[in-house]
Amino acid sequence: MASELTLHVTDRGGGRHALMAFDGASVMDFIRDNGLPIKAACGGVGACVSCHVYVAEEWLDKLAPPTAAESVRLADAVAPQDNSRLCCLLRMSAGLDGLAVTLAPGSEPDAG
Ligand code: FES
Repeated sequence: MASELTLHVTDRGGGRHALMAFDGASVMDFIRDNGLPIKAACGGVGACVSCHVYVAEEWLDKLAPPTAAESVRLADAVAPQDNSRLCCLLRMSAGLDGLAVTLAPGSEPDAG
């Protein structure tokens, strides 16, 4: 049985949410499936930038670095930062229990 993990998400309004997550699915899946507002226009295949999040600094070195393709996408994001990631490409795992992300500009469902 998959172990239960926690994913902390801050929404665009500053609301904080502790979501139940499991090993293997993407951070975007848990945000979307919990009804939080995220556009995720491409459905999670890394082909847009509307699942853009900022990863809390203390978690950055626990993540595999972005691929070249992800970095190219992120360069087109609204207000990219050093801690920007596409959350559909981040897989939850035991080592990421407690991961904290903030939904970034451009991830709103009504974003262009
Ligand atoms: Fe499109 Fe993540 S949902 S890149």
